[in-house]
Amino acid sequence: MKQLQTQTKYSEKLLNFSTKLKESEPKQKALQTCIKWAAQGRGKQFTPQEDFNIWLILAGRGWGKTRTGAEDVITYAFNHPNSLIAVVAPTFGDLRRVCFGGVSGLMSIIPEECFAEGTSEVGYSVSRSEIILFNGSKIVGFSATEPNRLRGSQFHRAWCDELAAWQYPETFDQLMFGLRLGENPQCVITTTPRPTKIITDLLKRKDVHITTGHTFENEANLASSALETLKERYANTRLGRQELYAEVLTDIEGALWSYNMIEERRIKREEMPDLERIVVAIDPAVTNTENSDETGIVVCGRSANKYYVLEDKSGKYSPDDWARTAIRLFYELNADRIVAEVNNGGDLVERLIRTIDSKVPYTPVRASRGKMMRAEPIAALYEQERVSHIGVFSELEEQMCSYTPEAKTSPDRLDALVWALTELSDTIGSAYWRIS
Ligand SMILES: Nc1ncnc2c1ncn2[C@@H]1O[C@H](COP(=O)(O)OP(=O)(O)OP(=O)(O)O)[C@@H](O)[C@H]1O
Ligand SMILES: [Mg+2]
Repeated sequence: MKQLQTQTKYSEKLLNFSTKLKESEPKQKALQTCIKWAAQGRGKQFTPQEDFNIWLILAGRGWGKTRTGAEDVITYAFNHPNSLIAVVAPTFGDLRRVCFGGVSGLMSIIPEECFAEGTSEVGYSVSRSEIILFNGSKIVGFSATEPNRLRGSQFHRAWCDELAAWQYPETFDQLMFGLRLGENPQCVITTTPRPTKIITDLLKRKDVHITTGHTFENEANLASSALETLKERYANTRLGRQELYAEVLTDIEGALWSYNMIEERRIKREEMPDLERIVVAIDPAVTNTENSDETGIVVCGRSANKYYVLEDKSGKYSPDDWARTAIRLFYELNADRIVAEVNNGGDLVERLIRTIDSKVPYTPVRASRGKMMRAEPIAALYEQERVSHIGVFSELEEQMCSYTPEAKTSPDRLDALVWALTELSDTIGSAYWRIS
């Protein structure tokens, strides 16, 4: 009898103990997660101790920006029960693939035990991009393409990934407006910099804590193949100073375009009027070796006397691939014509296009004047505020803003842009355009 009593007491105690353990299991896992990051993170990746409203991390590709943002969100959420945290990425795809999913995303860091029980998909809803944690904290994802979804929402903390690639500045304004819960609402921004207005404005503010870093600081955690690709693409280029070393590039004296000329006229896709004409322009690289140039493929449209840059799909392609890409864009965007520079490829260019599609309207264009002479009237259209970019085309814009008469590199994206806008504009080939 006595033994039974003892056994009951013992099992009660065990039960009690394991219930307590179960209760505290998410807490333990949460603590372990924070400790793990404290051991693994590099000094610059830790949330600054001093006061700030915004922590702006400007760092090169692969530095660990996303991981840093995700770890900050999680540490905050674990330490502040019932908090509301916003995560904003350039697009819905980025939100799912990078900030929530992905190797550095929230889902890869949060232990399973820390999700709230009883919610669908163990505390994570893909359709709502939402995570609910065991302590009631909620992490909600937004796409920067939808500023209105943020309207009226309020948060304790926010994380903005790749802010410099956001299409609409008003998304950031809406987010800041809603960042007003709790005693110390703060925002963490992780981005490769671009000289956009948002970034240059933030750099001037006193309440912004800035951390900068370059790609190679995270060398130990990057695949050597990825590092090789980055080096091959950006070594010794101006864009590399931005993409690898996080330098905020400034305008180049003598360049035909300035960042402001492009930035100030950037509009949303919804703001674009119906277009009268759309042209896909190609500046083809006819060889396909490691050292060959990129093929410029840029799509522009016209409405009345205004012009719109719709797509830049330039890249290193085999001839067959660039032809297919251009034809696909032609149909996808309901274009009127493909134009291609044929200086190098001659008839081959048309033959390639015709092999894939015998009916697509096509005009070969031949560069008889120098690049600068062709580019000048197009730069003038920008100066007259008649050209808008629909979205951000970083590599094209960088080529534009660094193109001076002395430039040695061949700016293929810029060439394609110039061909597209030349075809659309009335200034085409006019020998009288220049007064001097
Ligand atoms: N301190 C660290 N310790 C271990 N791994 C890290 C550390 N920081 C980052 N990483 C890892 O390095 C890789 C790159 O990090 P992450 O994706 O966060 O970089 P990123 O700067 O956002 O890159 P991208 O420019 O492509 O957006 C990821 O696998 C990430 O988990
Ligand atoms: Mg990232």
